[in-house]
Amino acid sequence: MSGFVEKPEPIQVPGLVHLHTGKVRELYQNEAGELVMVASDRMSAYDWVLPSEIPDKGRVLTQLSLWWFDQLADLAPNHVISTDVPPGAPADWEGRTLICKSLAMVPVECVARGYLAGSGLLEYKESRTVCGLALPEGLENGSELPAPIFTPATKAAVGEHDENVSYEEVARQVGADTAARLRQATLAVYGRARDVARERGLILADTKFEFGFETRDGEPGTLVLADEVLTPDSSRFWPAAEWQPGRAQPSFDKQYVRDWLTSAASGWDRASEQPPPPLPAEVVAATRAKYIEAYERLTGTPWA
Ligand SMILES: Nc1ncnc2c1ncn2[C@@H]1O[C@H](COP(=O)(O)OP(=O)(O)O)[C@@H](O)[C@H]1O
Ligand SMILES: [Mg+2]
Repeated sequence: MSGFVEKPEPIQVPGLVHLHTGKVRELYQNEAGELVMVASDRMSAYDWVLPSEIPDKGRVLTQLSLWWFDQLADLAPNHVISTDVPPGAPADWEGRTLICKSLAMVPVECVARGYLAGSGLLEYKESRTVCGLALPEGLENGSELPAPIFTPATKAAVGEHDENVSYEEVARQVGADTAARLRQATLAVYGRARDVARERGLILADTKFEFGFETRDGEPGTLVLADEVLTPDSSRFWPAAEWQPGRAQPSFDKQYVRDWLTSAASGWDRASEQPPPPLPAEVVAATRAKYIEAYERLTGTPWA
């Protein structure tokens, strides 16, 4: 069992057609045919969208993505058109809304990894590989890889697991040319972002991008960086000062929430059919503080 603990009812706004409820975002189309992406304060963990929200999280994700799109502008074109709140939309949409180019999304989660963690670590322990790529012996939880690797995954529906796939499988699914472009762009953007994060005392262990094609005259054209980028929801950031391979690293992602959910205090059994319980106020507050800290450390700007 998984999915939404409480399925949200999308807000209707005149002039906007609601397209889709994602785990975190509501997608609409405006009258110009552009995509209106509104990041909620929802939080997902263990394939569930939790019944508690993290105040301001959607704003942090949106503002951090915008900051990164700027840092990356010379490397990769992105989907942002503006941050204008559509007329008639709730005031709460301010800061969490992106008007974007509506792209033909490539159905591949483009993951880059520079360090061993998460599903990469699990596969490495089994087979000394990640997404079928052979790695040297002797790597531990949190080890830096000899060089960053592209480890794609197929995109799963809400409540389902993304599944790591080989590069060859991606090439079969989207064509060799698109696969090569995805890998090149993913590693280029990861390399830049890792360097930027490092200057700020953070390790970018891994991250996930989504790309789409901007269609012109019905023909697929430019490959454009879409979705959110380099946020704590899509990336593992570790404080460099505390990095120590051989154990789980403290991180700016949802580790705090995951730890509480799997602790005795939550009373929740992950393996059961039961949905996860609401988060206690202190877990919500600590998680909010982590997201804000990630924003402040990366951008060097206080959260307003
Ligand atoms: N420019 C774009 N054009 C079309 N779809 C997009 C664009 N940018 C992001 N998306 C899609 O919008 C959705 C974002 O909502 P989100 O809640 O993050 O979804 P998910 O549950 O898939 O993570 C994703 O399905 C993503 O593929
Ligand atoms: Mg998403």
